[in-house]
Amino acid sequence: MLMQQLNARKIPAVQPAIDHTQSLHVAIISDGNGRWATSRGLPRSAGHRAGAEAARRVIEAAPRLGIHTLTLFALSSANWKRPAAEVNAILRLLHEYLFAETTHCIDEGVRLSIIGRRDRLPATLRQAIADSEAATACGTRMHLRLAVDYSAREAIYHAACRFYKVTELSPESFSNVLAEVLRGGSTEVDLLIRTGGEQRLSDFLLWECAFAELVFTQKRWPDFAAADLEAAVLEFGKRERTRGALPDAIAG
Ligand code: FPP
Repeated sequence: MLMQQLNARKIPAVQPAIDHTQSLHVAIISDGNGRWATSRGLPRSAGHRAGAEAARRVIEAAPRLGIHTLTLFALSSANWKRPAAEVNAILRLLHEYLFAETTHCIDEGVRLSIIGRRDRLPATLRQAIADSEAATACGTRMHLRLAVDYSAREAIYHAACRFYKVTELSPESFSNVLAEVLRGGSTEVDLLIRTGGEQRLSDFLLWECAFAELVFTQKRWPDFAAADLEAAVLEFGKRERTRGALPDAIAG
């Protein structure tokens, strides 16, 4: 009886809502492909293929969640230490992605950029990157940045080497030089997600993540779904971002 009365009085939980008009930069360290494959008795390359599928799902879902820039870590400069076959498998997936998805990106208003070094990539891939970037340059709905042969430390170092030639020295002009080095821009990250259970930055967007909110999940990247991205954006919405100032409640 008491339970019936309590149930009748239950106030429906207020579902936190996503602000679809916000303009977020979400960056993702897509980790766990190898473990996902190994735990299924599959070669690591199968994990990367499943990872590319996860990337497609997340890219598709992102604009509806108020994400205006999405940066995915596809290959770090440190990954060259892996066996050549594995690195080549990731580069092949990237090439396939550009080949299959460029038209889709144009249709969806997605501008695609690659950030990172290009000189160590195969010439055919470099050409495919340049073609996709040119073809999608007018996209305004979302900026998709794939980090390939990327090292934040190296990018910052190269920007610093160029910076001494700049006449107006300011953090903003340093960001502009960094954007030139990266070619795909350098914008503040609002939310950084890392899948796969590790809790570190792994040389990813070190300058841009200065005030980012961090969300770590145990899920391995191939299992990461649109609903997980939505959950992370909701979690972000609950955080109070003070950037060193006092929280509103205390500041009055
Ligand atoms: C980290 O998992 C993942 C990578 C090094 C590669 C990520 C590649 C993709 C998501 C596919 C390429 C993307 C596109 C859009 C085509 P890991 O291998 O370090 O996993 P582990 O920690 O379990 O070994």
